[in-house]
Amino acid sequence: MISISGGDNPHKIVILNPKGGCGKTTLATNLASVFALRGARPTLIDCDPHGFSMGWLQKRPENRPSIYGLRGYTSDPGIAASPRLEVPNDSSIVIVDLPAAIPHETLHAYTYLADSLLIPIQPSEIDVYTATRFIAELLLDVRLDRNERRLAIVANRVRSRTKSYQMLVRFLSSLKIPMIAALRDSQVFMHAAAQGIGIAEMPAHKIRNDIPQINAVVSWLDKRRAAIHHMQQRQAMIEQVAYGYAESRGFQGGDPANDWIEAEREVDSRLGESASVN
Ligand SMILES: Nc1ncnc2c1ncn2[C@@H]1O[C@H](COP(=O)(O)OP(=O)(O)OP(=O)(O)O)[C@@H](O)[C@H]1O
Ligand SMILES: [Mg+2]
Repeated sequence: MISISGGDNPHKIVILNPKGGCGKTTLATNLASVFALRGARPTLIDCDPHGFSMGWLQKRPENRPSIYGLRGYTSDPGIAASPRLEVPNDSSIVIVDLPAAIPHETLHAYTYLADSLLIPIQPSEIDVYTATRFIAELLLDVRLDRNERRLAIVANRVRSRTKSYQMLVRFLSSLKIPMIAALRDSQVFMHAAAQGIGIAEMPAHKIRNDIPQINAVVSWLDKRRAAIHHMQQRQAMIEQVAYGYAESRGFQGGDPANDWIEAEREVDSRLGESASVN
């Protein structure tokens, strides 16, 4: 069991793909940089014993907006992952950078706790093939429900509309998994990584062609966050209304399951009315 607790009701974003070098750390550090610029005080959890995300943080200049760093791995070779991670209180985003090689239980645990899952994929034949198998494993074995819309793909190091890129697009559309951005193969990612910054912190003229794609990922994550907030609010209202029904009967008799169904109906109609007013 792995738990991430604390923080300011943080949005937990997990970046995963068993294919080495597909861009997990690049995506994780660039997202951390954008959220830091927005003042979200992100926490970057590095689960890779190679510690590339931690190394990036160490290089980060002191005058840049701060990002918290946590090690998600242990120095004990018998234990693959730190079981309990405590996020600083003012951090409202958690980004988990998973390594390529990851034990099955750790993958399960992180998939389970994630609010949003991002899989960077390079559109080469071998990478698309590996990703196909991995996504199938997530859907079947880890029992990730596609309808929850927690999962999205970020194509990475896209050179042009190559055959393998088209193959990736076709494969994803057949699975109804969104591809939310396509990052170009661009030197700016390496230059930013070398300085402990994200591309969003580089001069505008250097990132003109690349930043819109990072922003597309952020915009998808913002929508996810809003949807999660709405779901949590709905749930809390239903609990309150159902409790109210039982209370009005002096907690005598009645059927809690019916109360719940009735409360769902009432809350959805209230939410529907307020949506149509707004
Ligand atoms: N869009 C890109 N354009 C150019 N270079 C890139 C891009 N994305 C990643 N890279 C480079 O590719 C290399 C591997 O990327 P990265 O470390 O992010 O992959 P990873 O999936 O985290 O690898 P690992 O599985 O080893 O953790 C790095 O040198 C990185 O700078
Ligand atoms: Mg990495």
